[in-house]
Amino acid sequence: MNVLESFNLQTWTGPFDAAGRARAIAALESGHVLFFPALAFTVRPEERALLTPELSSGRAKNISLDPSGRLKHQSGGADQNALLQAMMQRFAGAAVALVSGLFPSYAAGLERARTSYRPAEIAGRSYSPVHDDTRLHVDAFPTRPMRGRRIMRLFSNIHPGDLPRVWNVGEPFADMAGTMLPKVRTPPAIQSWINFLTHPANGLRSPYDNLMLGLHDTAKLDTDYQRATTKTEIKFPPGSTWLCYTDQVMHAALSGQFVLEQTFHLGIEAMAEPQRAPIRVLEKMTGRTLA
Ligand code: SIN
Ligand code: FE
Repeated sequence: MNVLESFNLQTWTGPFDAAGRARAIAALESGHVLFFPALAFTVRPEERALLTPELSSGRAKNISLDPSGRLKHQSGGADQNALLQAMMQRFAGAAVALVSGLFPSYAAGLERARTSYRPAEIAGRSYSPVHDDTRLHVDAFPTRPMRGRRIMRLFSNIHPGDLPRVWNVGEPFADMAGTMLPKVRTPPAIQSWINFLTHPANGLRSPYDNLMLGLHDTAKLDTDYQRATTKTEIKFPPGSTWLCYTDQVMHAALSGQFVLEQTFHLGIEAMAEPQRAPIRVLEKMTGRTLA
């Protein structure tokens, strides 16, 4: 399978032509990675000082900025934090402009979620298997119930030298789910309530969230699957940008340092083809309503 769909854009703000927009939405929803080799996020000279792994607090992999402007897991001083916050806000603005310009039909359902900065080299870090993003997975998070909504992520490699972000992209979602679903053990319903009581603001987990987390964990823990499944290695060079539905595209980040990432959530009613959403694919496979 051809996993990348490339676009020759050099600016974050549209208008983008209708043919390009049509190609973008079709590729995105069918599980491709949209690749913008010449779309760079420019780090200003004074921001170069932010290109160090020392900046993250070590408690989390990434520094995050929530849409209200609050920075988390950073360890710099006040001046450095202000610089970091401004750079991340500028990136978020660019990401919103690009996604709104490319997918105007998403406007009603699109929500800007967190922005993250990932200053640590990926290769050589050690994590428990379920937290190890060098293993192929679809994104699903224990504390962030989606109830069928989509997770779309946009990344820019801002490495100051020539180090690419290296990913593996795996098989199509439906193929993965066909293999993995029979092996997934979903948690008892009581677990959803426990999570709700500890993170009430996020709402209740649905059967969809349990299945997606089950697919995430089961795939990561299955070393035979990880070894044997078809995968394509992709190198995203510094100065490039890419975008995909990470709840659909099987992905693994193998190596690289310094990327900025913007997460979006989307209600599936806004999709051109909602039947391609993981929730619809899983509902068809299980014969159940999942949210
Ligand atoms: C991931 O979403 O699994 C990691 C992607 C990255 O940091 O390149
Ligand atoms: Fe991921």
